[in-house]
Amino acid sequence: MRQISSFAKYHEEYKTSIEQPEAFWAEVAEYFAWGKKWDKVLEWNFTDANVKWYSGGTTNMSENCLDRHLEKHANKVALIWEPNDPKEASKSLTYRQLHTEVCKFANVLLGLGIKQGDRVCIYLPMIPEAAVAMLACTRIGAIHSVVFAGFSSTSISDRINDSQCSLLITADAVYRGDKKIDLKKIVDDALLLTPSIQKCIVFNHRNSAIDMKPGRDIWWSDLMANANPIHQVARFEAETPLFILYTSGSTGKPKGVLHTTAGYMVYAGYTFKNVFNYQMGEVFFCTADVGWVTGHTYLVYGPLLNGATSVMFEGTPSYPDHGRFWDVVDKHKVNIFYTAPTAIRSLQSQGEEIFKTKDLSTLRVLGSVGEPINEEAWHWYDKNVGKENCPIVDTWWQTETGGILISPIAGVTPLKPSFATLPLPGIQTVLMDEKGNEIAGNGTEGNLCIKFPWPGMARSVYGDHERFRQTYFSTYLGYYFTGDGCKRDEDGYYRITGRVDDVLNVSGHRIGTGEVEDAINQHDYIIESAVVGYPHDIKGQGIYAFVTLAGHASGDEHVRDVIRKTVTEKIGPFARPDKIQIVKHLPKTRSGKIMRRILRKIAEGATDNLGDTTTLLDPTVVDAIKAGAL
Ligand code: WTA
Repeated sequence: MRQISSFAKYHEEYKTSIEQPEAFWAEVAEYFAWGKKWDKVLEWNFTDANVKWYSGGTTNMSENCLDRHLEKHANKVALIWEPNDPKEASKSLTYRQLHTEVCKFANVLLGLGIKQGDRVCIYLPMIPEAAVAMLACTRIGAIHSVVFAGFSSTSISDRINDSQCSLLITADAVYRGDKKIDLKKIVDDALLLTPSIQKCIVFNHRNSAIDMKPGRDIWWSDLMANANPIHQVARFEAETPLFILYTSGSTGKPKGVLHTTAGYMVYAGYTFKNVFNYQMGEVFFCTADVGWVTGHTYLVYGPLLNGATSVMFEGTPSYPDHGRFWDVVDKHKVNIFYTAPTAIRSLQSQGEEIFKTKDLSTLRVLGSVGEPINEEAWHWYDKNVGKENCPIVDTWWQTETGGILISPIAGVTPLKPSFATLPLPGIQTVLMDEKGNEIAGNGTEGNLCIKFPWPGMARSVYGDHERFRQTYFSTYLGYYFTGDGCKRDEDGYYRITGRVDDVLNVSGHRIGTGEVEDAINQHDYIIESAVVGYPHDIKGQGIYAFVTLAGHASGDEHVRDVIRKTVTEKIGPFARPDKIQIVKHLPKTRSGKIMRRILRKIAEGATDNLGDTTTLLDPTVVDAIKAGAL
């Protein structure tokens, strides 16, 4: 795999990638195993949002992650699994073992009639079976849709129905810290509303008492007991759909972001190797859940494509105590550690005493992802975890981008705390002004767009290409719009300032304000709600809900409980509002639109200077809300 060894080389590589993108990405793709090589590296048209990479080529993700390493690295550890409870044994799977499991499960899927193009929903905790299921799907050309195991039954059924999955893979239950989550019970409720599901495979993880519905539910172990361990891969055309991953936007229901085979594979492999400067033999620990894109690209696919050893941790950073991440690093001799700023901030508040007994000397590179990292957290991470000796790669990217777009290259790019620094080779970042023009020069700020395709970019929204075009390619014609605001300093370094739309980033989880409002409004106590974000010390952003009540709603505290419960049921516990203010009226314009801008200011704690309020129907409403602000 191409690797960048110095800052000068980075600049050279960047220049080549912009001047000759097709030649550049063709060379990167040479590293991978292909059935047939591509005829055309790139065809694209941002106006219609159509992008194709490596047309005419055929390849297989699972073969590239597993089979191709067997000759030289069959006995190398592919996956280390660390359980929630440190008293239980961790597990390792070599490339050979993982390959066998995946081949068996691919045969299980085929035996159940799953074929290329079928959608398979995966609702599993952080256990190796999640990776096995994902890799087996890609092996046979089935499209996986992993749903984070913190989502509610309503969220699962919505996602299953949107992409018409015919199979669901789940587990009986899981412990996160000392909390038990009955996954199968949640699934049972979801499956009351999903006519497309024919079978449900259940992995027995905790021996929990569950109901198995005859004819529908089948135990993973029964299916695997006699499964054939030999499976010859078929290679698929480069643009064959690989997976769907639902993510929140500023409007409507979550979108099924669609990634396709060859481009995503090449980009995941290339960025993993280069951003982290991965060296053969190193142990890589990404703390993200496989239910989010970071888990897809940098826990499963990126590392395996490179023959790396990847750690999958089932638990939480604070169980049994706040040193658990460092115990995992110590125990498994982790070299590269990749986490979210929210985790860093929550640990930072617990002090530094805990580090005294941990050996973190194996660490070489640290990473950050999912939200802006504030300088204080950056320095704490650098000092206590990296011992001021590990580069921190602040990696900016999105579900839609497939892989990291802006980031330092470990050990190569000079760092600046809280800056994602520079675009990776092939990534043509631009900042746009309000009028839709590119802003030239440095020392500036605007909306972040990308003006040229890269292999890992999403190709569509599943079943709704027009929504894809509208969401990402219509704000600035001819550009992919990220939804993020961004600064470019005097050195040309990028610093992401956060979303400029109605998407919240709560503990690194992307949540649409509209989704939370829809959930709240479903309760008959509520007439109307408006949800905004506010700065939160640990979560980055907290959720602040303003609600107006129906006449029969009783007791403010009761109403708040009911709202939290409703959001938990409709979305999941991570989307519960932190603050709920009950108001008589919401501030509206004469045409009836809620003025969120004002609510955002109030939620941020502003008492005066709320901006222009002259278009409000009744300006006194604002004073009343201000007086009751939480
Ligand atoms: C935010 C997560 C600042 C950003 C990989 C983006 C970041 C959204 C960073 C995507 C970072 C991600 N610095 N902000 N290093 N990384 N973001 O789809 O607002 O869950 O648009 O993908 O997270 O979130 P998503």
